Amino acid sequence: MRQVVEASPRLEGRVQVPGDKSISHRAVILNGIATGNARLLNFPKSHDCMSTVQCLRALGVEIAFDKDDGVDITGVGTNGLSEAGDVLDAGNSATCMRLLTGVLAGQPFLSVISGDESLRSRPMGRVVKPLQAMGAEICGSEGGTRAPLAIRGGGLRGIAYEMPVASAQVKSAILLAGLFAKGRTTVVEPAPTRDHTERLLRAMGGRIEVEGRSISVEAGGLRSMDVAIPGDISSAAFWMVAAAAHPNARVKLPGVGVNPTRTGILDVLRAMGVTLKVEGERTVGGEPVADIEVESSSLRGTEISGDMIPRVIDEIPLIALAGAAARGRTVIRDASELRVKESDRLETTATALSRLGARVSQLPDGLVIEGGRRLRGSRCSSHGDHRIAMMLGVAGLISSGTTTIDRAEAADVSYSGFWRELRLVATR
Ligand code: S3P
Repeated sequence: MRQVVEASPRLEGRVQVPGDKSISHRAVILNGIATGNARLLNFPKSHDCMSTVQCLRALGVEIAFDKDDGVDITGVGTNGLSEAGDVLDAGNSATCMRLLTGVLAGQPFLSVISGDESLRSRPMGRVVKPLQAMGAEICGSEGGTRAPLAIRGGGLRGIAYEMPVASAQVKSAILLAGLFAKGRTTVVEPAPTRDHTERLLRAMGGRIEVEGRSISVEAGGLRSMDVAIPGDISSAAFWMVAAAAHPNARVKLPGVGVNPTRTGILDVLRAMGVTLKVEGERTVGGEPVADIEVESSSLRGTEISGDMIPRVIDEIPLIALAGAAARGRTVIRDASELRVKESDRLETTATALSRLGARVSQLPDGLVIEGGRRLRGSRCSSHGDHRIAMMLGVAGLISSGTTTIDRAEAADVSYSGFWRELRLVATR
């Protein structure tokens, strides 16, 4: 699909962003293996989360949707999953593949999991190796480093594992396998990453202990739990940057998740001079939630690196766009993980922004953006990456003239309705 976005004289609106993708994957997986019935509210029907739903159904979990984005899950209990009988399809979702590989490592049957071309090119050795060390038999393409993965699980024993990369997906895969292992399973993170798995495990009666960057679990059953999924801050971030970088804008974002492991975008935008309000903080489903409002701001460049990177890992293409619209230089370092996302996001971000007239150069692990040039509409491609598609949509709103985005349907991977919302924000 080709999407055309015109420069807009004003951006205004109240945008209810979809439910958080990371929390949704975890809420449906953990309730699938818990005992009892659970209802999830505000569950996003975007492709990524639906991949996890379909895989769990194939493993014997009953999941029913109603017309109001409510999802009813009948948990099968710790030993209740059954062999799927066909290849599990994780689509474009690494979260689906990596987290489910952790669960499947604990199951005494054969599973094969694969996904689309992008997912089959992404590193899986990072979950395969520790799960093999726990006793699972796993084979995969390219010496066990790529999907498809064939998993014959069961008979796991706990390990203590120092993660070489700061990845919430790797951490979660090992913790999920730990629910089926004999003894204690400990993971140590090199930097803090999103902790939704830990929060849900604790709330559902899991045996979990957190001490600084070390997280341990022991086997034990989980109790089903209803979860109202907070709005996804990674989806809200598109509207935050749109409003901040546009000269005549105000956008309100009610009910957004503000878990501190995810709010790097708020800190970075504040450091860039953005006027944003975060109000009405409350707790929903064990997660902090707030209402956010962003206005047109005079942006200045910034530098980000180190422990900040996992807190903004999905927002870096947007930060680069904000940098292009800012005065001065923006430097992003320590972000080589972006090279192994849905696309090589350092490359696709640099290519896309350069086509719009920004001055962007790549570092091996980051980007340098010389801001201050007016962006001008052009023809660009998402390269099949949902976050690049949506970043380009926002870029189109703040560039002069017309921006044409090829492969714009990629947005549906994490945000169905994004293009409709963009039209509303631009014309209201
Ligand atoms: C996610 C973790 C991050 C993030 C992804 C979702 C999760 O990936 O980029 O969109 O839900 O755990 P990594 O763990 O690979 O950094």
